[in-house]
Amino acid sequence: MRVKIVGSAAGGGFPQWNCNADLSRRVRAGEPGLTARTQSSIAVVADGGSNWVLLNASPDLRQQIAATPELQPSGDGLRMTPIAAVVLTNADIDHIAGLLNLRERQPFVLYATQKVLDVLNANPIFDVLDRSIVDRRPLRTGEATAIAGLSGPTGVTIKAYPVAGKVALYMETGQAADFSDDAGDTIGVSLTDAAGSRIEYVPGCARIDERLLGSVANCDALLFDGTVFHDDEMARAGVGTKTGRRMGHVPIFGDGGSLNAFANAGIKRRIYIHINTTNPILDDNSPERATVRAAGWDVAFDGMEVRA
Ligand code: MLT
Ligand code: MN
Repeated sequence: MRVKIVGSAAGGGFPQWNCNADLSRRVRAGEPGLTARTQSSIAVVADGGSNWVLLNASPDLRQQIAATPELQPSGDGLRMTPIAAVVLTNADIDHIAGLLNLRERQPFVLYATQKVLDVLNANPIFDVLDRSIVDRRPLRTGEATAIAGLSGPTGVTIKAYPVAGKVALYMETGQAADFSDDAGDTIGVSLTDAAGSRIEYVPGCARIDERLLGSVANCDALLFDGTVFHDDEMARAGVGTKTGRRMGHVPIFGDGGSLNAFANAGIKRRIYIHINTTNPILDDNSPERATVRAAGWDVAFDGMEVRA
């Protein structure tokens, strides 16, 4: 199985358009050790396969396809795409806005939980994806789903599982129901192919519990929510008051943080993805970057490949 990190930053990208804080300034200035990143998306293809599965469709998708030859049209057909299916892990803007780039009457299959499909179904702008050629299929948690395009299987199987999270920011009501572990607002996914390797993709997760540890244990690679290093990072950077956890993202560092939580989970390769413009691990030379490196974590960059 081959995974391409299409976009490694969190919503807003790195640098975020309106951010003038330290890291964003420095990457804009071209300082060595800081690399710009587009918004959250990965693509996966089975060994021997040519039909790609895109996981999450970011607002930067047009630019991301332009930067990724594997996702571009090829052969003799006048209209085609190697992207056979799209899978969504939540309804956040950074994961669904790119669906609008996939119009132009291109058939594909779209998979998401019923809760996330309900959000799309309620918004007529997504009807630009003609339902007679873009098939919306519910992804049921706890079940293995052989991901198929309209012309046949991709060879990638996905098992989705609920993770602690919340509804998308624009769907928040202020009620307790905004935050749920099981409603299907946020999922993690196990990616497998016939060769038997297993990659876990969890770009958003508010809390690491025993259930999640059980889902990812002994995988070949874990691509995990690296939005914030410190829970209070937005306040530290002086750009906001919300904590990482309130935004649906467990911090890397500190009590309950991901750095320690996965330490003994038997995971062969660990990679932080979905990284916010305020996260000091974005600076290759920061002490925080050294801390995650020493704990065996890589930091994803756009174009990175993971094979398993
Ligand atoms: C998130 O991951 O918290 C969201 O992408 C935030 C947003 O909608 O920008
Ligand atoms: Mn996000």
